[in-house]
Amino acid sequence: PRKIIIDTDPGQDDAVAILLALGSPEDIEVLGITAVAGNVPLALTQRNARIVCELAGRRDIPVFAGCDRPMQRPLVTAEHVHGKTGLDGPQLADPTMPLQDMHAVDFIIDTLRREPPNTVTLCPLGPLTNIATALQRAPDIIPRIQEIVLMGGAYFEVGNITPAAEFNIYVDPQAADMVFKSGIPLVVMPLDVTHKALATAPRIEAFRALGTEPGRMVAEWTDFFERFDKQKYGSAGAPLHDPCVIAYLLRPALFEGRHINVEIETTSELTLGMTVADWWRVTKRPANALFIGALDAGAFFDLLTERIARL
Ligand code: BDR
Ligand code: CA
Repeated sequence: PRKIIIDTDPGQDDAVAILLALGSPEDIEVLGITAVAGNVPLALTQRNARIVCELAGRRDIPVFAGCDRPMQRPLVTAEHVHGKTGLDGPQLADPTMPLQDMHAVDFIIDTLRREPPNTVTLCPLGPLTNIATALQRAPDIIPRIQEIVLMGGAYFEVGNITPAAEFNIYVDPQAADMVFKSGIPLVVMPLDVTHKALATAPRIEAFRALGTEPGRMVAEWTDFFERFDKQKYGSAGAPLHDPCVIAYLLRPALFEGRHINVEIETTSELTLGMTVADWWRVTKRPANALFIGALDAGAFFDLLTERIARL
């Protein structure tokens, strides 16, 4: 199985992504989950990550708390999307599995130094603060990272937190800039693809029909998400942004994209956090990312439902 670290700010869609990974043990080995401030503050994201591990029956997965604010800017959160807890929808009890003592950034650095080079993939599902802090503090890990597969950015679908920017990149544009300039192989799941991974009412019912506790939770989380997206954007369902990252590791052939240059806007107040993606290759700037634009949504939901069913 492919070894990964999930860096996350759960978030209902982060939670579904974690469940997809934990439901796929023959393909993916989750070395640890690192929480970051994003959708809600760190105290909640680390708690939510533990709730999700317990739901999957995986109290053995080490969960670490990382950075509680972006590198240079004040934290912006998204309770208007995810609710006060970040996992609004179902009733959830407090987790009982412990939080690890080690800081998430130290865990990322230690793991990459300990594991053989090019055997660990990073899967960021939130702002890139933990990842960039690790790269800055320990540049020796950069050539040891196999790949970073992340959710963030947008091109044709532009912004969901400002007219120009997607939430994860907007919250910590300096961190994103470091990651995109790092030279590490990058696969990017922008809104252009995640807005095609829509949990519609029948797809949500398929989760509920599994008749398991994880199935019911996924249904209630996506239900909560769906109501917001329908009201706000009139979309046909809830976009499952973060699960696209894990689905890509499992079935890359479900996705289509282009190797292009992507730069991050870090100064303009108007377009801060914009992913300036050279989709039409109008510059000579070298490609630094595989920027995904499309997926086979039917096959994606079949895979997701099948893996959640195993938990
Ligand atoms: C991203 O922001 C968060 O709200 C979601 O969890 C996802 O990672 C989408 O813009
Ligand atoms: Ca997220």
